[in-house]
Amino acid sequence: MTELIRDVDSLRAKLALARERGRRVGVVPTMGALHRGHLALLEEARKRAQVVVVTVFVNPTQFGPNEDFSKYPRTLEKDLEACRAAGADYVFSPEATTEIYPPGDETRVRVPETGKHLEGAFRPHHFEGVATVCLKLFQIVGPAVAVFGRKDYQQLQLITRMVRDLFLPIEIVGHPTIREEDGLALSSRNAYLSPEERARARAIPAGLGAAVRAYDAGERRVSSLIAAAREPIAAAATSIDYVAIADPATVAPYPDDAVIDRAVLAVAVRVGTTRLIDNVVLGEGATV
Ligand code: PAF
Repeated sequence: MTELIRDVDSLRAKLALARERGRRVGVVPTMGALHRGHLALLEEARKRAQVVVVTVFVNPTQFGPNEDFSKYPRTLEKDLEACRAAGADYVFSPEATTEIYPPGDETRVRVPETGKHLEGAFRPHHFEGVATVCLKLFQIVGPAVAVFGRKDYQQLQLITRMVRDLFLPIEIVGHPTIREEDGLALSSRNAYLSPEERARARAIPAGLGAAVRAYDAGERRVSSLIAAAREPIAAAATSIDYVAIADPATVAPYPDDAVIDRAVLAVAVRVGTTRLIDNVVLGEGATV
């Protein structure tokens, strides 16, 4: 049975009891609008913990002023049903202004290096909001393990960095991206796409796939790999924020004239007004 909990104190009390009984707690932080990708994270957490908490919280501090905070899909009833079917123990869905950011709250977490590249260059306060809310959620839940999707690759690296830097006793697990049949990465934001935009969004995995094939054929020049990825994407996207090849740990982009071995190819594009991100790690044998 999955229990919905809205306040910090109740969740802490229940989880303290579970830990006292020697049960390992796992957490899957989400903003809700759950899809198969999130449920795969939940399944992964279930393999690694005896008590699984899914947090459903649309975190205001990670959205910029002109971003989609107010229109972000909020589907708590459906999310709860999905978590019940998938066997979560608790769904934690707190209010922002009473529980997570009560009056007087001011402390923020910055991860300046890992947070400044790629997404950080386009969404200046995004990762400060992500790191802060994840630290708060970790403090509330006290998990032994936390599972994140690799679709948000930079977020995963940043949280891994934060946990290491702050000596948090939490195992961070990155779960592979779950894709639609045509390769589009599952994302809550896919719900914004019209049918015509959805068809165009197929160019994103097509671009990643083209770069993977070039890499597998022996191409190691950053400029050529980026060109392979950009071609299909540029033909279909409304605009491109970046198509970058970056260090897999620091996510610092490599210069165009670099030659790489293992690296992450990351993209952010707009299709219509919807901003989508995706990535693949070259040198890992991944397919898209
Ligand atoms: O990936 C997300 O959904 C969010 O960034 C997270 C990790 C739940 C923090 O709000």
